Amino acid sequence: MTHRDGTRVVRAGQPDAEQGTPFLPGPVFAGPFHLKGDVASADWVYTRYGNPTWARYEAALAELEDGEVVLFASGMAAAAALLLTSLRPGSALAIDKDCYLNVRRLARTHLEPRGVDVRLAGPAELAAAVDGADLLWLESPSNPKLEVYDVAALAEAARAAGALTVVDNTTAGPLYQKPLDLGADFTLTSATKHLSGHSDLILGYLATRDSERAAALRDWRRDAGAVPGPFEAWLCHRSLPTLGVRLERGSANALAVAELLAARDDVSGVRYPGLPADPGHAVARRQMIGFGTIVAFDLGSRARAERFLARAELVTEASSFGGVLTTAERRLRWGADDVPEGFVRLSAGCEETADLVADIEQALAV
Ligand SMILES: Cc1ncc(COP(=O)(O)O)c(C=O)c1O
Repeated sequence: MTHRDGTRVVRAGQPDAEQGTPFLPGPVFAGPFHLKGDVASADWVYTRYGNPTWARYEAALAELEDGEVVLFASGMAAAAALLLTSLRPGSALAIDKDCYLNVRRLARTHLEPRGVDVRLAGPAELAAAVDGADLLWLESPSNPKLEVYDVAALAEAARAAGALTVVDNTTAGPLYQKPLDLGADFTLTSATKHLSGHSDLILGYLATRDSERAAALRDWRRDAGAVPGPFEAWLCHRSLPTLGVRLERGSANALAVAELLAARDDVSGVRYPGLPADPGHAVARRQMIGFGTIVAFDLGSRARAERFLARAELVTEASSFGGVLTTAERRLRWGADDVPEGFVRLSAGCEETADLVADIEQALAV
């Protein structure tokens, strides 16, 4: 019998029930493994080459992605693996200019000087930028502006131009958007966010349906040493069964917050793909399964954004997103995104909706 994702995620990657064994075996902490004779005679030889705890978590994610999964030490380690195995001097990269700031920085500071043509393009120019490119990099919904890109149309344009497509799916995750089904060649997820959900680790992965490409990424991981720790992999697997319920609560909270903000005339630029009035809503409805937990808005000035963050009791001022606590930050404090001074990115957590909305209302009152 086939099950829906919300059911599959609860058991994904867990071994068959055997008398007296745990549901999810604990992490295998090892650098070297016992290894007599031929290297090929053992599944596990040295943890930089592979580790059974990663393999179990990769198998769980593979069930959700319907592709091969390669786990990395962080989302950025996954991004670096893909960029550095796909691009060479003379290659061209078409990249969403609103994508995550460290991906842009990696491209500008490490690829451009090595002779890669890095073409940063906005939503309207991305399809044209792909002409003659080797790789199209997009993020949808983007962090932090929540721009929604038509993944199927862009992946098709990339294929026609002879380019591969990677979608950074971190804001949606594997339950709420399936870039490989939409035609992307790779999907990248920072598991640091919703997948972990508890703000206690850094991890990332790439998924693809092409076995040769997956093998090349595994080789890169081994040779570059961009390997996850077994404990992080296990912890993240331990958090996986609750991903669906955490997302349901977080998304309901995000919608309620977005509706509250959109109805106020002292808040502007509210972005949430689940709002019918959002510019990305029609495309998001087509390509997303859920609209996610992140809301972006402009409080008009740095001072008001800082006042809001200081007054809110249930909105913790913090970096990152996707955890069980509602968090937010004034994004321009990082100095690298094209957003106004009062722009706030909020990640809705698992609090009671009425409490969260009431708290946000009181924090906006001054
Ligand atoms: C959209 C997006 N992609 C990639 C990353 C990088 O992930 P990590 O911090 O796990 O390296 C982040 C981190 O914030 C992100 O927001």
